[in-house]
Amino acid sequence: MAYSETQVVAGGLVHIPIVIGVFWFIQSFLLRRIDTSTSSGNLQTQKASITSQGTSAGTKASKVSPRKPAHPDVPVNTYKPKNPFVGKVIENYSLLKDGAIGRVNHITFDLSSGDPLLRYVEGQSIGIIPAGEDANGKPHKIRLYSIASTRHGDNFAGKTVSLCVRQLQYEKDGQTIDGVCSTYLCDIKPGAQVKITGPVGKEMLLPEDEDANVIMLATGTGIAPMRAYLRRMFDAQERAKNNWNFKGKAWLFMGAPKSANLLYDDDFNKYQEQYKDNFRYTKAISREQNNTKGGRMYIQDRVLEHADEIFALIENPKTHIYLCGLKGMEPGIDEAMTAAAAAKGINWSELRPQLKKAHRWHVETY
Ligand code: FAD
Ligand code: A2P
Repeated sequence: MAYSETQVVAGGLVHIPIVIGVFWFIQSFLLRRIDTSTSSGNLQTQKASITSQGTSAGTKASKVSPRKPAHPDVPVNTYKPKNPFVGKVIENYSLLKDGAIGRVNHITFDLSSGDPLLRYVEGQSIGIIPAGEDANGKPHKIRLYSIASTRHGDNFAGKTVSLCVRQLQYEKDGQTIDGVCSTYLCDIKPGAQVKITGPVGKEMLLPEDEDANVIMLATGTGIAPMRAYLRRMFDAQERAKNNWNFKGKAWLFMGAPKSANLLYDDDFNKYQEQYKDNFRYTKAISREQNNTKGGRMYIQDRVLEHADEIFALIENPKTHIYLCGLKGMEPGIDEAMTAAAAAKGINWSELRPQLKKAHRWHVETY
């Protein structure tokens, strides 16, 4: 039977969606297979490599699924740089005691006029656009700051956000240069209007488990997210509000140059008094204490001192480690963890990526 040219073309066209459909089906089937085999492969590799160290820390660490939690309920970018929220400053006060070095302030903004309301959770950051223009006459760029309050805000009404800001100052050609945004924030007066963006970030979120263990390594303003975690865990009003009855172990290693620079120290001392079994607070005061080599005491020196207990905690798959503050502390922490791990027969350069993959190793440094 002969077909006309039109019939042949029409017949060919009719088959196109069928052919596409068949290809789509085969492709998604193959992708599903690859996906499952890689994730189980990862687990196998993890298990093999950690157990080959012959340590229980490694074995238990490997039991955690490497799949990334999506956190779909965590708000992100409610306010973008092109259309920032304008929030009013409620308070701005120094966090330092007499004799401290530099300037570090706690600054709270009113979010109540936001529509939509700028909501956030502990561990996120917001962006601040400083008023004024840069040297080229352009609006200043955004600077990020870790949120220091819980989602309920310092007054527990759920409509404020607080930051912990250190004024950047450095010397250049014999002149003192003030950082643009940090100076703007440290100088700002209650009532002033500030452009705010965000919230952003899912790296530093707390685990949901009430019996998780949380090891925190902070230098300077790196304490900001930890202050939010610790309020969520141990502040009486916050606990009454948050329906999260933390019963794990929280251990804060805090690095500051002088005792007078320890941020939120009174609150943390109080939590330690009240929750002796749940909260431990270890300070490294670099310019008042010496490490075993006679140098400045840094948090990595404290990590080494407590290596056994830290690795005993890491054996528990519910233990998370959070690192926040100076970028420069990362190599030091890595070195300390390498030495501490080696003493227990563990290879840190293998364990760390596995903890990361299991979403138990959280880093935000700047
Ligand atoms: P700028 O005016 O932008 O000056 C910074 C620039 O100055 C640098 O880029 C560099 O070019 C130059 N500079 C800096 N130091 C020197 C030096 N010693 N010598 C020569 N040049 C130098 N900061 C906080 O205080 N608290 C926080 O909670 C906080 N959280 C953050 C969270 C995240 C995720 C990130 C990425 C950063 C965070 N920061 C935080 C840092 C903050 O974003 C700003 O970078 C900081 O406040 C400095 O901004 P600035 O506008 O004052 O300085
Ligand atoms: P120091 O400045 O005495 O060398 P702040 O932000 O308030 O200055 O606090 C930062 C703290 O972190 C200080 O005690 C500082 O010590 C310390 N620090 C500086 N460099 C490092 C580093 N590479 N590793 C760990 N801690 C550091």
